[in-house]
Amino acid sequence: MAKITFITRENETITTEAAAGTIMELGVRQGVRGIDGDCGGVCSCATCHVHVAPEYMAIVGPPGDIESDMLELNDNVTEYSRLGCQVQITEDLDGLVLHVAR
Ligand code: FES
Repeated sequence: MAKITFITRENETITTEAAAGTIMELGVRQGVRGIDGDCGGVCSCATCHVHVAPEYMAIVGPPGDIESDMLELNDNVTEYSRLGCQVQITEDLDGLVLHVAR
């Protein structure tokens, strides 16, 4: 089980727990504003864009090639950007903090 915290663009903090699935699925399930998952998790919409808290980036890891291509289309991409649908939840992510991207 991993405890994961979302911070929305409105500065609402939502802390939840999950054992499996993706960050996008968790965010949608928890009703996190700004995590929409419009494409269903096939890396083609970027409505699951999050900024990983810098201290967790090494654990989460960098985006893959297709994900990077998708992120390049987004104006708000940073070195901490990930698409939530491409991040699988594992126990290693316990304590993870994510900021919902604009
Ligand atoms: S849900 Fe569409 S890119 Fe992640």
